[in-house]
Amino acid sequence: MKAIILCAGRGTRLRPLTFTSAKQLIPVANKPVILYSIEKIHKAGITDIAMIVNPDNMKDFQEVLGDGHDFGVHLSYIVQKEPKGLAHAVSLTEEFIDGDDFLMYLGDNLIQEDLSKFVYDFRKAHADASILLTPVEEPTRFGIAIMEGEKVTQVVEKPKIPPSNLAIIGVYMFSSKIFEGVKNIKPSWRGELEITDAIQYLIDNNGNVQGHVVYGWWKDTGRPTDLLEANRRVLSEIKTSQVLTQLNDGNYKIEGPVVIEKGVTISNTLIRGPVIIGKGASIINSYVGPYTSIGPNVTIENSEVENSIFMENSTIRDVDVRIDASIVGKNAMISSIKIKPRVHNLVVGDYSTIRLS
Ligand code: DAU
Repeated sequence: MKAIILCAGRGTRLRPLTFTSAKQLIPVANKPVILYSIEKIHKAGITDIAMIVNPDNMKDFQEVLGDGHDFGVHLSYIVQKEPKGLAHAVSLTEEFIDGDDFLMYLGDNLIQEDLSKFVYDFRKAHADASILLTPVEEPTRFGIAIMEGEKVTQVVEKPKIPPSNLAIIGVYMFSSKIFEGVKNIKPSWRGELEITDAIQYLIDNNGNVQGHVVYGWWKDTGRPTDLLEANRRVLSEIKTSQVLTQLNDGNYKIEGPVVIEKGVTISNTLIRGPVIIGKGASIINSYVGPYTSIGPNVTIENSEVENSIFMENSTIRDVDVRIDASIVGKNAMISSIKIKPRVHNLVVGDYSTIRLS
């Protein structure tokens, strides 16, 4: 059994962060989103994984993940030159799959569910495909399935009038029969070769397509608000504090669960968990509220922050108003000017969002 992880999209809804990083490499609770997927796949007993990447982001993935050795898996890389759809991405993997069954994971999805039972049930049913499903409130945003018993009888991509509320949540099992489906479909109204159409082809041609409904939390991290929600979910799973730094200065207070990595400086500060603080970060004369991820070597000085993601080497200094629900990229700097006149002095990258109070 093999696995493929799809990461070749353009991530336009997460600009400007995706100008310098693939969206699957953006950290949630200080860990790139992609690592959560790799861990789930590994835990389900699959170690031979192909990453589907685009020509621009391949190097970024290779730098962070290498050949997968550090994570107990073997990673190969397959380039999809343009994001022509999930089924198109699958078509590029036929040689890698080489007649095997495989798991397909959309690299920007975070799921709580352990995948072992999903994989086991697929094998037991000798199915041609199996899809992970969950009830959602906005079915028009997803691929939707209709089921009869365990079987899926229809799938439809982002329907205007949804026939059910069971969304396809980005994890699929396939036998290599899916390649037949992939070769027999046409691009959809959005110009993509849709994997839902390839699955529907299997259904229409007497294929055995199973649905596996789960109720744990799940997040497609395609938009900034989704990333922040995923960050809250993951941080809320910290149950016991782990402090790896010798905090010498007595002038600080920590409430609630926190993870504090090595080499962190905290002084004259209240930290209210759940919070994670990466190695080498410095938090001086500040407040860090719940659901905040502070990356390695971040500086927070004379400021209040909460419910946000601060990526490595970013600096927040002398900011009067509390920073909330924000994502601050690597090496970014937010500070205030203390001299008159009071002005906003900005260097804002393309597609940035700044909301001033
Ligand atoms: O999030 C779940 C949804 O994912 C499902 O409900 C839909 O049925 C499924 O089509 C998919 O819809 P999205 O519109 O959210 O897919 P997105 O374009 O965001 O791509 C998902 C992942 O696949 C993302 O990590 C990028 C990658 N990708 C996407 C395309 C279009 C590729 O690797 N190649 C591609 O050509």
